[in-house]
Amino acid sequence: MQVPPAMANLNVTVRSSGIDFPGHLHTLQSLQYAQEFQFQDTDTVIITYPKSGTTWMQEILTLIYSDGDTLPAKTIPNWLRAPWIEHYYSESVLVNKSDHRILTSHLPYHFLAKPLKQSNAKVIYVARNPKDIVVSFYHFHKIANFLPEPGTFGEFLDKFLIGEVNFGSWFEHIKEWQSHRDELNFLFITYEELKKDLRKSVTKLCNFLEHPLLPNAVDAIVRHCTFENMKENKMINYTLIPKEIINHERGKFMRKGVVGDWKEHFTHEQKQAFEKIFQNEMSNSNITLNYPL
Ligand code: A3P
Repeated sequence: MQVPPAMANLNVTVRSSGIDFPGHLHTLQSLQYAQEFQFQDTDTVIITYPKSGTTWMQEILTLIYSDGDTLPAKTIPNWLRAPWIEHYYSESVLVNKSDHRILTSHLPYHFLAKPLKQSNAKVIYVARNPKDIVVSFYHFHKIANFLPEPGTFGEFLDKFLIGEVNFGSWFEHIKEWQSHRDELNFLFITYEELKKDLRKSVTKLCNFLEHPLLPNAVDAIVRHCTFENMKENKMINYTLIPKEIINHERGKFMRKGVVGDWKEHFTHEQKQAFEKIFQNEMSNSNITLNYPL
C-alpha cells in the first residue's frame, strides 16, 4: 500500500451532507463506502473530531491488541493498522484484515449510523477541550497542504465556531454522537483523561475491550505512548508523507501534546465569545465534559 500520491487533489474539496472534506483523502465514493461499511462485532472504531487525540488512541489500541509488543506500532504506519473508514484507500487496506480490526473515523454519527447499528462493534469516542482542538487544528492547517489556508488565528476561530471548516462543526459532532451513545457499544474518553493518568486510561480501555493485560504489558504501553516517545515514531508522526502534502518545515504534526495551550493563543475577547457560543450550543445537551473548558 502506497502513501497517497504527492500532490493528488490537494486543492479539491468534497462536500457531502453539507460538510466539506479534503479531496486529497476523500471522494464521494469513499464517503458512500463508509456509509455502507460492513462492521464486524470484533471491530473497534475510534471516533474523533480531528485533533482530539486520534493518533494517540490508534497507538494505544495497537499496543493493547499486541499485548504491549511495540513492533507493529514501530513498523506499520497508523493509516494501515487503523485506517480511516472514509478515506479513499481504506477498502484496499481492509481487504487483508480479518478480525479485531482497529478502524478510525472523523465522520459525524449520521454517516455511520445505519451500518454501526447492524453490528456490535465497539465504539470509542475521544473528546478534547474544543479550545485546544481549534488551536491544534489551526496549526495543522498551516502544515497540511490538503487543507485551506487558515488565515489568522482569529479568522480560523470564527470559522470553527460556526462550523465552516473541513469536517464540519465540533458542536454537532459531539452532540450527535453523544445523543446516540445508548444505541451503541460505546465508550467516552477524553484527551485530558489520557494526559492525566495514562495507566488508568489504558486499564479503562482494556476493560471496555474485554482484553485484560498483564501489568508489564500495561507498563510497555504507558512507556511507548508518551508524547516524547511517540513524536519520534515515523509510523505516526507523518514524516513518511512527502512535504508537498504535509510540510514539516512549517511545523510538526506532533506539535506540543499539552492541555491548555489555548491560553497561549486566545485573547480575552476570543475566550468570552467562545464560552458564550459553547453555552448556547451545549446547554440542551446532557454532555458533561470532565475537564474545565
Ligand atoms: P497538539 O497540536 O495540541 O500538539 P489527532 O491525532 O486527533 O490529529 O490529534 C493530534 C493532537 O494530539 C496534537 O495536539 C498532537 O500533538 C496530540 N498528541 C498525539 N499523540 C500524543 C501523545 N502521546 N500525548 C499527548 N498528545 C498527543
